[in-house]
Amino acid sequence: MAFSDFQFEIYRDGLTGRKPSQPVDVAGLQEAVRRRLDGTAYWYVAGSAGTGDTARANCDAFARRRIVPKMLCPTSTRDLRTELFGKTYPAPLALAPVGVQSIVHPEGDLATARAAASLGIPMTLSTAGSYAIEEVAKADGPRWYQLYWPHDDEVTLSLLDRAHKHGYEALVVTLDTWTLGWRPHDLNRAYLPFLRGNGLATPFSDPVFRSRLARPVEDDIEAAIEAWIPMFNGRAHTWDQLSLLRDNWDGPIVLKGIQHVDDALRAVDAGMDGVVVSNHGGRQIDGAIASLDALPGITEAVGDRLTVLFDSGVRSGSDVFKALALGARAVLLGRPYLWGLANGGEAGVRDVVRSILAELDLTLGLAGFETPAELDPTALAGG
Ligand code: FNR
Repeated sequence: MAFSDFQFEIYRDGLTGRKPSQPVDVAGLQEAVRRRLDGTAYWYVAGSAGTGDTARANCDAFARRRIVPKMLCPTSTRDLRTELFGKTYPAPLALAPVGVQSIVHPEGDLATARAAASLGIPMTLSTAGSYAIEEVAKADGPRWYQLYWPHDDEVTLSLLDRAHKHGYEALVVTLDTWTLGWRPHDLNRAYLPFLRGNGLATPFSDPVFRSRLARPVEDDIEAAIEAWIPMFNGRAHTWDQLSLLRDNWDGPIVLKGIQHVDDALRAVDAGMDGVVVSNHGGRQIDGAIASLDALPGITEAVGDRLTVLFDSGVRSGSDVFKALALGARAVLLGRPYLWGLANGGEAGVRDVVRSILAELDLTLGLAGFETPAELDPTALAGG
């Protein structure tokens, strides 16, 4: 089945009076969720750093670039399959790591993992997930593990060991959030999910972390929270420390949060396999460069020495097209799938991903391309 078939599935359902279970456009879906969801949870997801300038810039950078289609091309059927780190996936799309998902839906990461598994696309589990490494692995789809890198090497190695044993194929190391950015929406509500016990399932079930506590987590949750927060937040790591991860992870390592060409080149030197060009959806440094604006320089500098993934500001299939044209091998979807999760759990996530892939499939064909690999910057104007 082609991803674009979702379009006529919806139209045909309409003949029997059925409408899509949620708006297929991300803006409409977000608005529907905003009306229903508790304000603290909604703004934890929707909000970003400072004035929101970089979050807006992420989306504006897509709008500034326009697709220049070619006609009379043999593109009636497309093939979106994409190879990443030696594995072939059905499309150039994966789900970005997003912590504390149960604030928007009780099944959180479990529902997300099932939705991703049903489509065969990789799901990246966050260290700050609402469910632990072992529980999320049960969905048994392709899965990557995102590390918030603890300042306790034995805890780090224990997390890597658990992820590896439970079939997480790539290690995604997030570098841009070694300390939390300034987030007015959450500050105004005095709301941080971790302090309220959310996003702690993985450390709290970790035998090495537990061994660091004077009393079991269950007997003194507050002390456990206070032990975990400084272990992963507030202090930066340095490039030379990456060797710990390289020496102890038997698989691809991807550095997430890269925006500077120099850092991408250092990632090559450090023996990394990939980078995610990302500014965390504008949640860390307000005023930082739009992630899409950082992408072309990085893909040009690293060539095929690294697999370049991209996130921040992707809201449609057409956005995915543009990021691929600027050299990303695949795109990580962020906030849009959270709106699907909030609205409809597993089915909600699946419908968001299907909508984005349907639009990508159609856009590719309508613009004159059969595969993502054919795209290059000449498919775009503006910037
Ligand atoms: C995130 N992101 C994130 N990244 C990460 O590496 N680990 C994490 O735990 C989280 N948690 C998280 C929570 C929420 C609510 C959001 C919105 C984002 C960042 C995420 O992986 C991705 O980089 C951004 O979501 C991309 O930006 P857009 O496309 O969502 O604007």
